[in-house]
Amino acid sequence: MRVLITGGAGFIGANFVHQTVREHPDVQVTVLDALTYAGDRSSLASVARAISFAEGSVADADLVDRLVAESDAVVHFAAESHNDNSLDDPSPFVQTNLVGTYTLLEAVRKHGVRFHHISTDEVYGDLELDDPSRFTPETPYNPSSPYSSTKAGSDLLVRAWVRSFGVQATISNCSNNYGPYQHVEKFIPRQITNLIDGVRPKLYGAGLNVRDWIHVEDHNAAVWAILDRGKVGETYLIGADGETNNLQVVRTLLEVFGRDPDDFEHVNDRPGHDMRYAIDASKLRDELGWTPRYTDFRAGLEATVDWYRSHEAWWRPVKAAVEAKYARTGQ
Ligand code: NAD
Ligand code: DAU
Repeated sequence: MRVLITGGAGFIGANFVHQTVREHPDVQVTVLDALTYAGDRSSLASVARAISFAEGSVADADLVDRLVAESDAVVHFAAESHNDNSLDDPSPFVQTNLVGTYTLLEAVRKHGVRFHHISTDEVYGDLELDDPSRFTPETPYNPSSPYSSTKAGSDLLVRAWVRSFGVQATISNCSNNYGPYQHVEKFIPRQITNLIDGVRPKLYGAGLNVRDWIHVEDHNAAVWAILDRGKVGETYLIGADGETNNLQVVRTLLEVFGRDPDDFEHVNDRPGHDMRYAIDASKLRDELGWTPRYTDFRAGLEATVDWYRSHEAWWRPVKAAVEAKYARTGQ
């Protein structure tokens, strides 16, 4: 089987490539990645000889057509992924998340190639803290940010290409991932690398916003379950019952570093900041038999801290620029 993995030099995509090379040695992997600020080829260094790598955009129709023609399946991770960046400049989000997904859909339609679209729980908007419900595949779309609205639009393109053109596609909407190779602009790696540098963690607003954390390995195992056993045309929600508020995450990280759990800083809140995400993954568990392996969040955080401590050469070159950008918005 030949699999084209878009965005394979990013956080989740790189972990997916590693997992695929390790656990599916029969699969021939090609990565398509534009190597934006979020893509890093060194994340693939240890598997470089086992895969092919094409540098380019998912919105480049000729390149995409050629690579899709040589594939049996496409797993589409490539995206502009950071909410704060989408508030600063939405244009690359429209180009990559919408036009890029459209370009891939046209190619898989032409060549009859299986497509799996990686998406986010943010397409459903947010929940109140006192709302007992969780997102299900039937929850209406209600995205808040330029990022989540372009991901919602890309999901709708996939659904339309399945229904109108019979494209063989599945979609997954996952909650917040953590683990190795996550860019230091994101919440958990930003605070871990701040703590390594002796800087106080930065909490947006009061820190009561809840995210439903899942380890990236569990997300990617679910993607493989969908590729292997998922039903074409279906949407699967991926989550590991990991609801935690940001304040609790920061306090846990401070404890892991042996610091006072209240030694953090409140900074400006994110405009339009979603309050709570929560995933009901029972369809994935019941129909495909998936279960998460990383059920101890603190242990997963400790392993992630160890990873950032031992991979300083990977994140150090971009840390100062990320912090300078946040400083401009008082975050
Ligand atoms: P990331 O920002 O770490 O990586 C994105 C990758 O896509 C980078 O390697 C980048 O170079 C590449 N890319 C960007 N624009 C491209 C283009 N035009 N053509 C080709 N490659 C391009 O993102 P991530 O956190 O790994 O997220 C991957 C996917 O998972 C995204 O679709 C995102 O919406 C989704 N997702 C992320 C999370 C999360 O918690 N991070 C949760 C659910 C879903
Ligand atoms: O829910 C899935 C989504 O999770 C993915 O679709 C996105 O690609 C991914 O970036 C993530 O989105 P969030 O906006 O939830 O993640 P982020 O890491 O930016 O922030 C997590 C929470 O932490 C959020 O409530 C904002 C807050 N935060 C973030 C940063 C960077 C802070 O309090 N301080 C910070 O410094």
